[in-house]
Amino acid sequence: MGRTAVTLSGWELDNPVIPASGTFGYGKEFAEAYDINCLGTFSFKGTTLKPRFGNPTPRIAECGAGLINSVGLQNPGVDHVLAVELPELAGFFHKKVIANVGGFSVEEYAEACRRLDGAEQVGILEVNISCPNVDHGGMSFGVSPEAAAQVTRAVKAVTTKPVYIKLSPNVTDIVPIARACQEAGADGLSLINTLMGMRIDPRTRRPVIANRMGGYSGAGIFPVAVRMVYQVYEAVSIPIIGMGGVQTAEEVIEMMLAGAAAVQVGTANLIDPWACKGIIEELPRAMDRYGIESLQKITGGAHHG
Ligand code: SIN
Repeated sequence: MGRTAVTLSGWELDNPVIPASGTFGYGKEFAEAYDINCLGTFSFKGTTLKPRFGNPTPRIAECGAGLINSVGLQNPGVDHVLAVELPELAGFFHKKVIANVGGFSVEEYAEACRRLDGAEQVGILEVNISCPNVDHGGMSFGVSPEAAAQVTRAVKAVTTKPVYIKLSPNVTDIVPIARACQEAGADGLSLINTLMGMRIDPRTRRPVIANRMGGYSGAGIFPVAVRMVYQVYEAVSIPIIGMGGVQTAEEVIEMMLAGAAAVQVGTANLIDPWACKGIIEELPRAMDRYGIESLQKITGGAHHG
């Protein structure tokens, strides 16, 4: 195992850097910029059972330290992903991917995951119960321990792949929700999704985003994400994929010290398409600076001693 390698539910990744869902599509645009096989893996665009057009525009509002999005889970649907995106991806990406799955009912989550269960290229199912931009679904499952457990159980019943539940930070206490997912059989957790936010244009005196509010991501949320990963690590024994505003190799290390076994990088890809490649190249140098021999060994390091 190389010194930057990490393991997620028995799956060895060359390094912990994973572009986050919704910032990397199904990989092909980024594969035009660089060889994406340098990544640990990536989490593909949030995919639902049926295709979705998404929310009205404008969907993006820029902020000082990040951006707000209200995309609304635009995607071509799981059957298109299986028939077109994954076969295309096999031509240029030679690792397994994380399949990010959205839904509007427990049955819908389970059916989309059941269909993806047959896909050899899928290494982990990342079940998104935390999208803040859709009604009747998305985040509504991620703000209640009971609903989160219900989705977890339903998905676990239809797949043999590891199931990671993607949690929302828009809650009073994330810990009971994380524990409920673990008790319902989740193999891991991904956190955090975006924080609910809003911008208003002083010229029009109206919200910038057509849907009024959206999910805030980027550098500004990094300390919130570190805090939540730290709290959840103390409460569960399953692996955590940490994310939220990560932009540098040093922040990857910080997120791992908080408790992450691997780290997703999201908004940074939208600012600089080569962001993940740069972080991966910098990681060994950052490890040397902090006397880290093996990255895998530092997970949760901030909790000990
Ligand atoms: C979206 O498609 O609206 C973003 C997805 C998410 O935040 O989970």
